[in-house]
Amino acid sequence: MTGDIRINPSILAADFVNMQAELARIASADFVHVDVMDNHFVPNLTFGPQMVERIQATSPVPLDVHLMISDPDRWAPGYAEVGAASVTFHLEAATDPVALARRLRAIGSRAGVAVKPATPVEGLFEVLDEFDQILVMTVEPGFGGQSFMADQMPKLARLHDEARRRGSQVWLQVDGGISESTIAQAAEAGADTFVAGSAVFGAAEPDRAITALRRLGADHHRH
Ligand code: DX5
Ligand code: ZN
Repeated sequence: MTGDIRINPSILAADFVNMQAELARIASADFVHVDVMDNHFVPNLTFGPQMVERIQATSPVPLDVHLMISDPDRWAPGYAEVGAASVTFHLEAATDPVALARRLRAIGSRAGVAVKPATPVEGLFEVLDEFDQILVMTVEPGFGGQSFMADQMPKLARLHDEARRRGSQVWLQVDGGISESTIAQAAEAGADTFVAGSAVFGAAEPDRAITALRRLGADHHRH
């Protein structure tokens, strides 16, 4: 069964000046992953709310916005207001993660929280129900095309098993270095939502790459 597996291509690997055509190449995706970077939380700069609003208006697939920005308490709600289906901010950057997640949900978006490789997840166990998605980064955030960090798998597995124990419906997302050769490890550790940039947009036929990733994710998914 592939229904509970999501494949979210990252447009960081797309051609920014042909965005409409690039979006048409990933019509079978579950969400479009939009990496917002502010040159402060990470040493790279992408786009802001106006660009995201235009992508939202153009995309046939809902948006999964990943905010790699400082002060998400101030800026994240704006992305929900332009209609993003899901907004994920970094735990390291937020002043009051639970209050921010509640605001995102009140606007009508799914609320996600992301952790960098060095950040533990245990602090989230007591508040899992406040979030719709937890993103375990499998690279240092900032750039596409980096190598998958397999050392994040025990952390992901602890999170998965704790979520199951508590009967939580939270989605567990991985982002960074996901490809046909790494997705099985992440699925075995408990991920159900997979971001892939270069593995999808670097393929001759992105929709076929999405199908192959979805099948591998489903075949290896931890229960
Ligand atoms: C990294 C971004 C990722 C990136 C993934 O900071 O959050 O979403 O686009 O790219 P790949 O799949 O190429 O590692
Ligand atoms: Zn991302």
